[in-house]
Amino acid sequence: MVFNASRLINKTVLITGASAGIGAATAILFAKAGSNVIIVARRAEALKSVKEAAEAAHRESGVQGGGKIAAVQLDVSDKAQIANLLDKIPADLRNIDILVNNAGFVRGVERVGSISESDIESMFATNVFGLISMTQLLVKDMKARNSGHIINLGSVAGREPYVGGSIYCATKHAVRAFTGSLMRELVDTKIRVTEIQPGMVETEFSVVRFRGDKSAADKVYEGLTPLSAEDIAEEIAWAASRPPHVNLAEVFVLPTNQASPTISYRGGKM
Ligand SMILES: NC(=O)c1ccc[n+]([C@@H]2O[C@H](COP(=O)([O-])OP(=O)(O)OC[C@H]3O[C@@H](n4cnc5c(N)ncnc54)[C@H](OP(=O)(O)O)[C@@H]3O)[C@@H](O)[C@H]2O)c1
Repeated sequence: MVFNASRLINKTVLITGASAGIGAATAILFAKAGSNVIIVARRAEALKSVKEAAEAAHRESGVQGGGKIAAVQLDVSDKAQIANLLDKIPADLRNIDILVNNAGFVRGVERVGSISESDIESMFATNVFGLISMTQLLVKDMKARNSGHIINLGSVAGREPYVGGSIYCATKHAVRAFTGSLMRELVDTKIRVTEIQPGMVETEFSVVRFRGDKSAADKVYEGLTPLSAEDIAEEIAWAASRPPHVNLAEVFVLPTNQASPTISYRGGKM
């Protein structure tokens, strides 16, 4: 490992949206580094595969400590399910040191006026209300223990809006504002708050955006090398493994050939 990951040994990390993409890669990396990991998402079968991969990564790393992996099937947009979450976590993993609020998605590229109510509501319910509910639940314990780290997945879309992304951009701007307020509220504690703001990452994200149309999704990344889920997992683990007095407030990370949501270089003339 390229950073001081020993600070992650025996930490307990809860990651939402860990059945695929960035969340899955993050779960596997923390397991490898000797953390205990609780993975949360809606798809039970996919969670099972990630759990097995994380257990194998921990075994193969040879790191002593940690390596307990628990999977919890949960929809973060369902407040009742979040209210019961702690009961579903094994008792020895309930003191969560690091919360990675990663579950999120975008659906569609429709412009304002043509966006379905259900897309608007479901994006806000997961990306914003789910993230807030998870934070509300776990920050109480963190405050009581005066320790912890909340890492939220923002986006380049939370820094700069673009055409065809109004709702997703609004959700990620909301995440940025919420994260900023949270960090300010917790300034007199030892709790750290980080927002990771990726540009293009090739995961299931664009397939979900284009409602399963893989060729439309592939076009998003044509002609440049996008970030991988593993690249973002490294940023998350890096933020979490800094010394306790160091808080990486924001990590804005782009592929080298992307400069903004709409400016990228894909070969040919600039
Ligand atoms: N990929 C990018 O280009 C990019 C760029 C910037 C930011 N991000 C952000 O990074 C995060 C992860 O995205 P990704 O690229 O890894 O996408 P992904 O491959 O589509 O993974 C999304 C994950 O979120 C889970 N999820 C979605 N809705 C959920 C819900 N209601 N409750 C629980 N889990 C839910 C999905 O699992 P289930 O379907 O099993 O629930 C899946 O595990 C998102 O917040 C996204 O906005 C992505």
